[in-house]
Amino acid sequence: MPVLNNISTLYTCRDDGAQPDIHPINDAAIAWNNGTVEWVGKASDIPATFKSAEVIDAGGNIVIPGLVDCHTHLCFGGWRADEFEMRIQGRSYLEIAKAGGGILSTVKATRAATENELYEKAKNLLEEIISTGVTSIECKSGYGLSVEDELKQLRVYRKLREEFPVHIVSTFLGAHTYPPEYKEDRKAYINLVINEMIPAVAEENLATYCDIFVEESAFSVDEARKIFEAGKEHGLIPKLHADQLSSGGGAELAADIGAVSADHLEQISDEGIRKMADAGVIGVTLPIASLYTQQPYLNCRPLVDAGVEVAVATDFNPGSAPSYDLRLAMMLTCNHGRLTPSEALKGATIYAAKAMGVEKSAGSIEPGKSADFLLLNAPSVNFWLYHHQPKKPEKIFLKGQLLA
Ligand code: NIG
Ligand code: FE
Repeated sequence: MPVLNNISTLYTCRDDGAQPDIHPINDAAIAWNNGTVEWVGKASDIPATFKSAEVIDAGGNIVIPGLVDCHTHLCFGGWRADEFEMRIQGRSYLEIAKAGGGILSTVKATRAATENELYEKAKNLLEEIISTGVTSIECKSGYGLSVEDELKQLRVYRKLREEFPVHIVSTFLGAHTYPPEYKEDRKAYINLVINEMIPAVAEENLATYCDIFVEESAFSVDEARKIFEAGKEHGLIPKLHADQLSSGGGAELAADIGAVSADHLEQISDEGIRKMADAGVIGVTLPIASLYTQQPYLNCRPLVDAGVEVAVATDFNPGSAPSYDLRLAMMLTCNHGRLTPSEALKGATIYAAKAMGVEKSAGSIEPGKSADFLLLNAPSVNFWLYHHQPKKPEKIFLKGQLLA
């Protein structure tokens, strides 16, 4: 039953309050048992029951919850560095996609890879991601676009979940784009998603969520609605890629359909903001995708002002966001998304946990939750995000265990 003390400031990041309320405690301590937090408070108030516990000295560092990346495409074949260069030379993300690059080039590489090859690659990436302080992660399929290849990606996530202590939640993204063999028959592909993929995913219990890329160049609002309804019948909860490149009613659909989150939102309408706030849909900002596609960033301020809880994630994928650096996403959310460091921290902890449905067990430092927290050598969260450095946390505790 260890106690961590000598914490200069502990940011609990409890859900109550609004986006800026991260509930700091100065001169704090945490006690946990078997990987679960039992007590959090001022070091001077440690209850007598913990007085004989093993004491770990936090060295005056600050402590925040383990970070939560609630939007990634972790498992994929190949990379797309060629497109990075093409975009710098002036070709747009959409132009490249229409010419057969983009998502479809990753689909080709993912189909060509065996499950084992994909597992090895994703495992190496996940180890790196954990070392940056991410202790919960959402992972999407969407680079298979056939029954077997979608299942292949989701089985990689299942295996990672079995092998790693990190909290992993899987999302089925069969409606990411149309595969080449269905280019001329979109309806037939939608039928495949509805009649074969969703039942197969549900049968093996491989995903919690059903995601769709709702966009002019991908799936329309009406098509998405049909797919979400089918997913719901099989217990898959909706979440969306919405309003990224154009304002197409994605945010409104998220509210109508009862989605847990709507992600991207760079082109969201005022009506979409209002509807998301009313329905309690989490808005997920993905600023690394804006950085790499040279697209406008989401200004999160109108969403927060309207009462939408904004989460921050990386969107890690080989095309539009080839970086898994969640601290970078938080810093960009401050500089371009107009959130304060406290707001960005709430967005990458408890609100992100809500966007991936793990808020009962992760995302904040509270009794009853998984003992996931990071020691950071900075005087405050404000300073940590202001002085952006390529540096890992001083220490990472995941389920109460110190990671080597
Ligand atoms: O979230 N927008 C669609 N999907 C990804 C991009 C995936 C890719 O380019 O491979 C995104 O940005
Ligand atoms: Fe994405």
